[in-house]
Amino acid sequence: MSVVYLNGEYLPLDQAKISVLDRGFLFADGVYEVIPAYGGRLLRMQEHMQRLQNSLDAIRLKNPLSSQQWLSIVEKLLIENPNSGPGEDKSVYLQVTRGVAAKRNHGFPEEVNQTVFMMVNELAPVNKEELRKGVSAITLDDIRWKACNVKSISLLGNILLRQQAHDNDAAEAILINDGLVTEGAASNVFAVINDVLVTAPTGTQLLPGITRDLIIELAVKNNISYEERDFTEQELLMASEIWFTSSTKEILPVVELNGNLVANGKSGPIWEKMIDIYQTYKIKLRLGESS
Ligand SMILES: Cc1ncc(COP(=O)(O)O)c(C=O)c1O
Repeated sequence: MSVVYLNGEYLPLDQAKISVLDRGFLFADGVYEVIPAYGGRLLRMQEHMQRLQNSLDAIRLKNPLSSQQWLSIVEKLLIENPNSGPGEDKSVYLQVTRGVAAKRNHGFPEEVNQTVFMMVNELAPVNKEELRKGVSAITLDDIRWKACNVKSISLLGNILLRQQAHDNDAAEAILINDGLVTEGAASNVFAVINDVLVTAPTGTQLLPGITRDLIIELAVKNNISYEERDFTEQELLMASEIWFTSSTKEILPVVELNGNLVANGKSGPIWEKMIDIYQTYKIKLRLGESS
């Protein structure tokens, strides 16, 4: 049984309980983060903490813990939850809600006691051969709101879009807002267009992915030409490579889009280069040589 953190206590998962009046439960009034840990070392913890702060600021909620407190809880949970399967990689899920109010009312309650919840999940070791097979995707109209930069636990738009992709035998949806590519239902999107790696600029229509930023940083360091710019669905359909990126997916090639092969239906040369760079980065992280 895994051990989770809830409001100051470390508990077996089945003993962690919250009130049905929690605003996270009633309104999805809260934010979250997912942080990978490779061999016990957290990937980009500072950046995740900054994004958490930005999300909390956006929904006008005070950060209930200091960065040092977040770190010590995360580190304790990683120790309390050894992997049962092979590998030693995990992801940490943390969530903050506006807590329990006396009664259901849309306006903020006067006294706020945030609910803080954290759990750890095993991350299956990434197998490059498996990743290389890629996935299929479909484009869908981005039906979400105008604050997609906030990592909100209100994910109804995202889950309906992801399910629509599954209903069409696709692993993930690529979202199109006014003709422009924004991101995936739970990932960022990169495309190789005329040999240049392209991803949409951050703003209110997509989540500033920590993996996205790391990939951009690694592209610059390794002289891979890249551009952060708006790109259209038409450009996407002509791209020679398409990738999904996220903390848990890492870099996943899309080999089929809307039922048509992407290029020759195989992962492309820039993905091959980037996945090696990314894996090397992770090896250095395990050794304590990067963050
Ligand atoms: C909507 C959305 N965009 C992008 C991402 C990728 O973000 P990160 O790289 O920080 O995992 C996620 C991750 O779950 C997501 O849900």
